[in-house]
Amino acid sequence: AACWPLAPHDLQGLTVLLTAGPTREALDPVRFISNRSTGRMGFAVAAAAAQAGARVVLVSGPVHLPTPPGVERVNVESAVEMYEAVMQRVQHSQIFIATAAVADYRAAAASGQKIKKTRDTLILELVRNPDILAEVAALRSSRPFTVGFAAETHDVLHYAEDKRRRKNLDLIAANQVGVAGSGFESEQNALHVLWEGGEKVLALADKTVLGRQLVALIAERYRQWSGAR
Ligand code: PMT
Repeated sequence: AACWPLAPHDLQGLTVLLTAGPTREALDPVRFISNRSTGRMGFAVAAAAAQAGARVVLVSGPVHLPTPPGVERVNVESAVEMYEAVMQRVQHSQIFIATAAVADYRAAAASGQKIKKTRDTLILELVRNPDILAEVAALRSSRPFTVGFAAETHDVLHYAEDKRRRKNLDLIAANQVGVAGSGFESEQNALHVLWEGGEKVLALADKTVLGRQLVALIAERYRQWSGAR
């Protein structure tokens, strides 16, 4: 089936909840652990979902991007804040798309004061953050159509398919990271999209183009999924 171009009413009447950008995990009042996500991929998907007629709620970590037209933005900093913002809103959403690069760990105890350089080595103790995507996919009531991303440096398809099954996702968009020209920071990306019984390659293109292609594919898969229930 064609998944391009996107019809403006493809997601009419639906609420799409997304996460985008990095999270910041405080070590002390002035330092944090984070990653290279710019939010571009997630903001492009959010913009495309709004263009397709959805109500769009975008939970974003700290990024330097303007809010796309028609999108409701909720700013958060840490993974725990992102988790809470998502859980407060997921019950009213029919589609959840996790594009954020959420920090897997945070400091066991962030220091209330600036950490001093008194010793030659410093050991940080980190604890696991909640897995927002897995928690949404595991909801027992009002579970939305759940879409994850997989950022992998190697064996992209193998790990993406494993993530899709393990986290019980309806669709996963895999991208290679750690190479120049796609993934984090770049203006462009390429996605390999997987679902139960199907797959589609979205070739290297601007993230704005990929956002529209991915939303068209999600709209198509969502209709199948909701019709089958
Ligand atoms: O922001 P850009 O610079 O445009 O870059 C885009 C991107 C590379 C960040 C994006 O395309 C992407 O791949 N996002 C997912 C990044 C990631 O953290 O992937 P992961 O394989 O570690 O996580 C798998 C999935 O679980 C993701 O959907 C992630 O949002 C979600 N997750 C992970 C950990 C966690 N604690 N909570 C989550 O929800």
